[in-house]
Amino acid sequence: MPRDPDRFACRDCGDTFARWAGKCPSCGAMNAVVEITAGEARLAAKSDQQRSAAAGLVLEAASSTANAPVPRLATGFGEFDRVLGGGLPPAATILLGGEPGIGKSTLLAQATGLIGSQHPALYVTAEESVDQVRRRLERCGVVGVHLELSGSNDAAAIAGAIRAGKHRLVVVDSVQLISLSTIEGEPGGPSQVRAAAATLVEAAKASGTALVLVGHVTKDGGLAGPRLLEHLVDCVLAFEGDRYADLRTLRAVKNRFGSTSEIGLFRMGSQGLEEVADPAGMFIADRDAAAPGTCVVPVVEGNRCMLVEVQALVNPTQAPQPQRRVSGLDTNRAAMVLAVLARRLRFSLANCDVFLNVTGGVRVAEPAADLGIALAVASALREIAVPADLVAVGEVGLAGELRPVPRYELRAAEARRLGFKRLIGPGAGQGRGRVVCARLDEAVTQALGG
Ligand code: TYD
Ligand code: MG
Repeated sequence: MPRDPDRFACRDCGDTFARWAGKCPSCGAMNAVVEITAGEARLAAKSDQQRSAAAGLVLEAASSTANAPVPRLATGFGEFDRVLGGGLPPAATILLGGEPGIGKSTLLAQATGLIGSQHPALYVTAEESVDQVRRRLERCGVVGVHLELSGSNDAAAIAGAIRAGKHRLVVVDSVQLISLSTIEGEPGGPSQVRAAAATLVEAAKASGTALVLVGHVTKDGGLAGPRLLEHLVDCVLAFEGDRYADLRTLRAVKNRFGSTSEIGLFRMGSQGLEEVADPAGMFIADRDAAAPGTCVVPVVEGNRCMLVEVQALVNPTQAPQPQRRVSGLDTNRAAMVLAVLARRLRFSLANCDVFLNVTGGVRVAEPAADLGIALAVASALREIAVPADLVAVGEVGLAGELRPVPRYELRAAEARRLGFKRLIGPGAGQGRGRVVCARLDEAVTQALGG
């Protein structure tokens, strides 16, 4: 009888072996090596290599234009397409991760509904009933005539449907609830999730179908999370937001087809998700400009500029240790700005609690927000409001100098468009209303007076 080199596989790392072992020779997992069938063995990357070695290496010219590229598929959501870098690429797998209840199913039901009005699409709902999805589609007003639904949780059957090549897009919601009967383990467990996803990815590549997998991320890590699949898929998208507020952000964590710096913005409404196409002024819409301790900062996400309000509250401390609480900003940068204010500008913060916040639940990590943080704190401490028509942008250095930041012109243009008359910062180029300061102390004097 010929010896099968791939008779055993590790349930944890997926490596294959000719012999059984109590401890996996590759990853060291105990009792994870099990006997597998020939079909499963083909899932392993190793057997792929062996197969191509046997067939001889096929070489292709890098410049080949014989096959015209298949165009990308627009999702019907400009914001979704922007994050993908211009729509869904054919034969690609996208993993959409996010906490339960954040709106992944809603986003995909709407996108498949819109795509399904022009192209054949399939939405596999392993989580909700087909009827629930049908009702959601109706509620969101998107029932594509070419959209089909399935309630299957059998990964082999779904892979078969993908291979048939009928659909331009297949959505599987969620990858944690589908399983392969040939693999041991509960649905949602690491071996099931990986094997089931690998089967679907292979089918999508073979048939040129765009595939979207939904993956729940839980804080306690109870289910095998999307991290496990990151290397297997072409794009990892994260759908985030505060479940109690209606704003949702879609961002690419990994993207083989475009940049990872673009974000898509949505609002959850009573009829599903709506795009926020012009978010520039949305976060400062109801600000109280006369209150001390706030400063507007034009921040850039991808190619888009948004104005946010940084707020500071400085209060004499009641505790032995002064508190520093930061929400929506980078904690280390905020601590550094406070240290520069204390050391270089002689601000007495040592006996004060400092609270920093960005309104609207936005998260700002850019060093460009440093100057805004500094002005908000200075304004709070002196109880003088920053002028209502002023925005600030600039990185603060440890010596108290202001450093230029990228996309200065874009920030200036957006601030002007939204009615701000003065931009305070380290400057670059000329323009009306530019208050150019090389140092933080100058900027504080310019904004709050001497
Ligand atoms: P869902 O898409 O089921 O989340 P996920 O798939 O990420 O678990 O969205 C669930 C939430 O969205 C639910 O709490 C209700 C809310 N929602 C609306 O507010 N409006 C709507 O039109 C829809 C369909 C859902
Ligand atoms: Mg869902």
